[in-house]
Formats: sequence, structure tokens, C-alpha cells
Amino acid sequence: MPAHAPAPHTPVPHAAAPDAPIAPAQPQAASRRGFAPWLAQTNDVTSVFLAAGQIPDLINLGGGLPEPSLWPVEELADLAAAVIRSHPAEALGYGPIPGLPALRDLIAARCSTANLRLTRDNVLITTGGMQALELVGKVLLQPGGTVAAQSPAYLGALDAWRPHVPRYRPMRIERNDHDPRAAMQGAQFAYTVPNFSNPSGRLVSLPERQALVAAAHETGTWLIEDDPYGVLYYEGAPLPRLLDLSAAGHPGPYAGPVVYMGSLSKELTPGLRIGWVVAAPAMIAALATAKQGSDMCTSGLSQMLALRALEGGMTERIRPAILSLYRARRDALCAAMREHLAGDLDWQVPSGGMFVWATARDPRLDTDRLLQVGLAHGVCISPSSVFDPQGQDRRSLRINFTLNPPEALEEGCRRLARAIRATLAAAE
Ligand SMILES: Cc1ncc(COP(=O)(O)O)c(C=O)c1O
Repeated sequence: MPAHAPAPHTPVPHAAAPDAPIAPAQPQAASRRGFAPWLAQTNDVTSVFLAAGQIPDLINLGGGLPEPSLWPVEELADLAAAVIRSHPAEALGYGPIPGLPALRDLIAARCSTANLRLTRDNVLITTGGMQALELVGKVLLQPGGTVAAQSPAYLGALDAWRPHVPRYRPMRIERNDHDPRAAMQGAQFAYTVPNFSNPSGRLVSLPERQALVAAAHETGTWLIEDDPYGVLYYEGAPLPRLLDLSAAGHPGPYAGPVVYMGSLSKELTPGLRIGWVVAAPAMIAALATAKQGSDMCTSGLSQMLALRALEGGMTERIRPAILSLYRARRDALCAAMREHLAGDLDWQVPSGGMFVWATARDPRLDTDRLLQVGLAHGVCISPSSVFDPQGQDRRSLRINFTLNPPEALEEGCRRLARAIRATLAAAE
């Protein structure tokens, strides 16, 4: 799932009419015999989204998809034909488990700075950032293990680690009394999305970054820096990565506790499924061992395309168009929210990324319920319960602004305002 949505055990609606009846919940997968117990803890995100996709004229503010018109389709098609002809063994055969050496070298060079020396041994190519998350769970999570996770947390990460049934220790990094050392002590790893977090859209400040890195070094806890949105700053200079802060004062090849994850999904296309991990060589070797039992290797064709696209500067060429379109859509959404939703919701305008996180002013607004009422009004949002490992936060929602043009964002906000009123009326 990209940055998707909906809620645990959510019934699937029949149709778009505001007062359409809501169908009973789909049977849970785990109620059928033979499935592993963790499946009983999954939510019905996929079935709700499949059903939502069939609702005519639905405005989907719940997903986390990029705008497809930004993809350089013709250029990629030409490159694909060229690399299959010129490098059939690399493009069409099995490749090395950690990734094509030339692509690992390129990522190492791209992520290096004056103070951070990276080599191929610091890099693993993954099948999307999602696989990096899954592999970290495989190599670090032991039964009954604890994950200290920035809260609210990315649903895809929670999904990736669900089979290990971890305990979660929420990290509310923005709170003055947050103690990262206490959160990380004894945890198997800490998970953060410092740039424009999914779902909260929040940018972790420099002092907060410094405190996280210091705590990881002091406690010896692996610190995951999941960074698919670091290329989507709409204003302000990018803050140093946790990886940079961790390397400062430690000259020599990187061997610290930060496990950095990048992806081409937001700066090129998600369908290539190219991601990477930058970490200490020992971590890269462990992740490669886990990757062998996962997919043997990431698609050679995708890796060759990524290599040629990055070498040729394709991502730099399309970046200005991506940033200006998404910035304009963020502004359009926030203007429409001010117009239609200011009485109902509180939010902060994000300075990058793909999401606005909003919290209900009225505590009686249950956003799980709002998801369903919203679908009946022709608008889809992501309720906060799916980003809470305990599934208990029902006061907030995530709104995506990258997929829809301004008119649809405005109409989506109008519908959402009506759905909020209907949800609150039913709660009285
Ligand atoms: C925080 C975060 N991490 C990882 C991913 C995975 O992205 P991909 O597998 O497309 O690289 C996403 C996708 O939306 C995300 O939001």
C-alpha cells in the first residue's frame, strides 16, 4: 500500500448515496482455518479501498498516491527498451542479492557528504521502501520485542511488522517532555519518519533530530530513518538527515546506529519499486541475508532503469514540476479547509510531503465512523485509528493533497464538512 487508509473491521458501503445502507463487515481472513494468528489483528483497509474504488465520483483524499501525469513515461519507455537490448543479462536475469553493484555505488555516492563517507558495502537495493521495512522486522524483531515508534506511525510499517506481533512504545517527539533515551532503552529498534511524516506531515526539528541521534548512540539502539518524503520540501532548506548527524564526529566509513531508507517512489515512479537502505555494513549484510529469503533480488530491469535515470539526471529534471504542482495542491487544500472545515478541525500546514493531519475539535467525532459516512457522501479519508498500533486514536484524520486537482480538493472538503455534520448528528 502506498500511504493508504481505512479502519479496523470497517464495513464496506454499497454505494455513494448519502443515506445508502452500509453492508455488514466482510468475514475476517483469519476466521478461515489454517491462517497464522496475526492475521486476526489486521484491519480491512484493502477491502474498504477496493470497495471505495468502485464508488462512482468518489473523491479519494484517503490514499497517498503521486500524480501520474508527472511520470516521464516516454523517456522511461525508451530507456527500458534500450537497457533490455544493451544489458539483457542484468535486466532480465537474476542479479546479486544486495543489488546491482553500479546502482549501489551510485546510491552510495549520492548519499555521501563531506562528512559522511559511504561505499557500496553501506548500501542495499530493495524492492521499494516497503521491503526495507519488512527486512528490518525480519532481522531485528524477536518474540515479544519492542519497537519505539514515532506516533502516529506509518500504516505500511505497522503492516510489515504485524507478523512479529511487536509491542509498541509510542514516541511523541514533538512533546517537551519526550525522552528519546527512555523510549529507546531496551527497544529492538526505533522508527521515525523525520521529513513530513506519514501520516502527520510533521517535520522533526533539528534539536529533536539531535536528541534522537544522541539517544541512539547512547543506548546502542538501531534508529530507522524512513525518508521517502525528503525530496518533497516545498519551502525552507532541507534539515540534516539523522544519518548525517550520526556520522558527525565519527570519521571513517559509516558504522553507526542509523538505518536510512530512501525510495524512488515519490521522486520518479512508485511502480519501479526501487528503494534502498544505507547503514553500517553489518546491518546491510544481515538485511541481504533476509532479502534472499524474501525475493532473491530486486527486478534487474527496474534497477537498470533506476541506474540510467539517475545517471542521466532524470529525477533532477522532473523535480521542479513535482514540487510546484504539489505545493499548489497543498495550498489549494489548505485554503479549502480554511473555508469549509475551520469550525470542525484543527491542523497545521505542512512544509512538504503529501499529507495534512487534522484533529477534530469536538471529541465526539469518531473518525472511523467518519470514514464510512464520508464514503456515503462521496469522499474518502484515512482515520487515525489505522496509524495507532493500538487502534485507539479516533480523533484525527489524514488528508492527501497530491492526487487531486484543486477543484476536486475543494469539493472533497465540502463533502467532508457535510459528512462531519452527519457523523456528529448521529452521535448526539
Ligand atoms: C513513510 C513511508 N515509508 C515507506 C513507504 C513505502 O514506499 P515505497 O515502497 O513505494 O518505496 C511509504 C509509502 O507511502 C511511506 O509513506
